[in-house]
Amino acid sequence: MTIPAPRTPDLRSAPVLRWGVLAPGGIARDWVASVAASTGQRVTAVGSRSADRARAFAADFGVERAHGTYEDLVADDDVDIVYIAAPHSEHTRLALLAIAAGKHVLVEKPLATSAAEATEIATAARGAGVFAMEAMWTRFLPQTDIVRQLIENGDLGRLGLVTADFGSVATADPAHRINDPALGGGALLDLGVYPVSFAHFALGRPERVTARGSLTPTGVDAQSALVLDAADGAQALLSTSLRARTPSAAAVYGDAGSVAVHPSFWGPSGVTVSLANRDPETWIDPSGMVGRDALCVSAVAAAIAIAEGRTEHPLHTLSDAIEVLESIDEARSQLGAS
Ligand SMILES: NC(=O)c1ccc[n+]([C@@H]2O[C@H](COP(=O)([O-])OP(=O)(O)OC[C@H]3O[C@@H](n4cnc5c(N)ncnc54)[C@H](OP(=O)(O)O)[C@@H]3O)[C@@H](O)[C@H]2O)c1
Repeated sequence: MTIPAPRTPDLRSAPVLRWGVLAPGGIARDWVASVAASTGQRVTAVGSRSADRARAFAADFGVERAHGTYEDLVADDDVDIVYIAAPHSEHTRLALLAIAAGKHVLVEKPLATSAAEATEIATAARGAGVFAMEAMWTRFLPQTDIVRQLIENGDLGRLGLVTADFGSVATADPAHRINDPALGGGALLDLGVYPVSFAHFALGRPERVTARGSLTPTGVDAQSALVLDAADGAQALLSTSLRARTPSAAAVYGDAGSVAVHPSFWGPSGVTVSLANRDPETWIDPSGMVGRDALCVSAVAAAIAIAEGRTEHPLHTLSDAIEVLESIDEARSQLGAS
């Protein structure tokens, strides 16, 4: 077997949208840098709770207009789509603000802090007829399309097991968004969303979620091991942690072979495919992009989908993001996380 070629689009040939960046924090900086370096998309405006922070961000990245309120950003006629990069607790309120102003939205992961909140976003976007998507960039990476084709073509046979992890050592500062329940803190919403999303991508919506783990002193989930059971007996074994560095590897195993996504599976990497009675084959992402260099793939996916007249991306629908949050809701509830 030859590893199938990824069918991902050329990043520069996507129709160009005018983007408004809402909440110019850490990830917004990396996202705009990625969009500027690798795509033709235009960031035309930025909106912050502070006019000074908006102006500073605009100056750093050559953005035309800086707004001192989020309301002014979403009212900007020269913005087609709003990229929402605020803490988790703010995603729903701010997505609803942008949707009410008639804008398309790309919302940082996780789409919201619960499936119920995410459903509110979906209902509003569908009612308004605007495009909405969670910026789960991993779904749009070339290696993910290779895994997609291996599963769809049946090359791995009947799937039995998926493994994925994402653990990192977080600050102990109780006021940091990662530890603060009021800002949607915890490992599952911040990091665990990647392995849970990968498991849903490979196996679909699970029939049962089982979680064991521990909490931080602030009451959010610090670490957990998850088992997701599919109706046909396939399982996903996942872990996430704010207290241990783990490799961020992912793999899908079937009765005819397996595919291992090289660390870090959530960013551009590579795959090794091992089929029964064959030598393993390896594919390495040739783009030269490392880590967050590739954040722009979700912007390009959104731009293409919108140009095609879609309000959701077929490779990552709102229902997909809601189902991932259903699993996270269940895991957080079993852990007793705030
Ligand atoms: N895709 C990835 O690889 C990746 C990586 C890291 C983070 N993220 C996601 O990006 C989002 C933001 O994370 P971040 O690390 O960039 O956060 P951050 O640095 O704390 O920035 C968030 C920004 O949100 C604004 N904000 C609005 N309401 C706020 C509130 N109540 N408290 C604090 N800030 C508030 C602030 O900007 P203004 O006040 O200036 O408006 C702040 O700078 C999260 O959804 C996170 O999961 C994604």
